Amino acid sequence: MQAKKNIFLIGFMGAGKSTVARYLHSHHGMEWLEMDKEIEKREGMTISEIFRRKGEEYFRELETRLLLSLENRSNTVVSCGGGVPLRSCNVEAMKKSGIVVYLAARPETILERVKDSHDRPLLEGHKDVAYIEGLLEKRLGKYDAAADVQIATDGRRAAEIGEEIYALLLSKDKGCKENVM
Ligand code: S3P
Repeated sequence: MQAKKNIFLIGFMGAGKSTVARYLHSHHGMEWLEMDKEIEKREGMTISEIFRRKGEEYFRELETRLLLSLENRSNTVVSCGGGVPLRSCNVEAMKKSGIVVYLAARPETILERVKDSHDRPLLEGHKDVAYIEGLLEKRLGKYDAAADVQIATDGRRAAEIGEEIYALLLSKDKGCKENVM
């Protein structure tokens, strides 16, 4: 079955967006789009290089442009960069074509998941719980406001989370078709 809507996975770096997206792709045949990878491909530079050479604002503009270009897609799971919900125009673009799912994780869980990677410029030199907690707190209001649904990921497997999201997507696809007679 092909989903009519898209799924946008939002959440802090290391919340498990890519892992859950990969699960939905391989178990439910959804198209899978990794925003960071797509931006890297389009720009011919890594995210770290884009931040270093062009600055964060330029990167945020690329995110917005990419989201706007997805409006005619369906049956796609989009793994969003952690900063995507910070711009309200991005949230509007996501809601036009899909449901927005916030994958929440505790700072300790996030640290565990990001501690060995070096491809997130905002966390370089700040791999500690206090810093992650601070940045997460600053963003929580935006994540909350953007989310159609929130799922805590700590200690849960991608399969479990993926199935929960897919069931939700199918129920939204059906819409309201109750027979009132
Ligand atoms: C960012 C998250 C990263 C990437 C960039 C900025 C953020 O993506 O887009 O480093 O502002 O939270 P992931 O959430 O996929 O790590």
